[in-house]
Amino acid sequence: MNLEKLFKKFSSDKFNHQYHKVYHSYLYSLRSKKLNILEIGVADGSSLKAWAEYFKNSRIIGIDIKKINLKKKKLNKKNIFFHRGSQTNKSFLDELKRKYSKFDIIIDDGSHFPKDVIFTFKELFSSLNTNGLYFVEDTQTSYNHFFGGNAFDLKYAKTHMNYFKNLVDTLNYKEIPNPFYIKGKFDGLIKNISFYNNMIVIKKGINEIESNLVLNNSYENKRYLTKISRNRNNELKYFIKYKIIFKIYTFILFLLNLFKKTILLRF
Ligand SMILES: C[S@@+](CC[C@H](N)C(=O)[O-])C[C@H]1O[C@@H](n2cnc3c(N)ncnc32)[C@H](O)[C@@H]1O
Repeated sequence: MNLEKLFKKFSSDKFNHQYHKVYHSYLYSLRSKKLNILEIGVADGSSLKAWAEYFKNSRIIGIDIKKINLKKKKLNKKNIFFHRGSQTNKSFLDELKRKYSKFDIIIDDGSHFPKDVIFTFKELFSSLNTNGLYFVEDTQTSYNHFFGGNAFDLKYAKTHMNYFKNLVDTLNYKEIPNPFYIKGKFDGLIKNISFYNNMIVIKKGINEIESNLVLNNSYENKRYLTKISRNRNNELKYFIKYKIIFKIYTFILFLLNLFKKTILLRF
């Protein structure tokens, strides 16, 4: 049965959100594999039952802050595992990581509070296998102040939408010609970040493609090396141009932006 039918069969609200369309595009080719799938937020267990039927060879692990009566909710199946705890409890998440080691798919359908979603992603990313997928559902709470979101400062509020929008830069971290750039925790480890209606998908994977413009966060160094490799006779001219004049220009821009960020308190 396909995901659309399974979400309908088990009355999961994933069907109302039309999440089956996104999930289908990522998961169809994986359905016969033996995977560790973690879903944050169990509630009635509708989605766990759908996943258990869709991924017959996988382990479906559900966590929820609330007590769940597995028998009553018909979740006492051999490929469904439940743990009670909060997605914001570091020691609980560490225990989960110790128990299952790595996950292939993680779905955050828990509290939907921006700070919880960000915290959980930062904590669980290391336990996602290379080529693993991380799904964040119901990102509409980012815009809603009754859920800890912000409807009035769409670009800079501390919401999960903004967190993941900013994380997109990690895909191109080798292209950033800032000599003071500090390598981020996720740099080189994410292949793809996709945004859908109320949903974000992050694909983990090695992303270390070298830039054709920048070398170790320096455009000047790359340009200088390219130029002298083509024409050794003008080494001094290129040195003055790229290693002195261009670097001074970059440094001035760095200082101006530092000043701007300090005034605006944006780092
Ligand atoms: C939208 S429901 C999950 C629905 C389920 N995934 C499905 O599709 O059928 C959200 C669940 O997250 C749980 N939850 C809320 N805050 C949580 C937290 N901090 N940690 C873990 N679970 C949480 C709630 O108890 C609730 O059962």
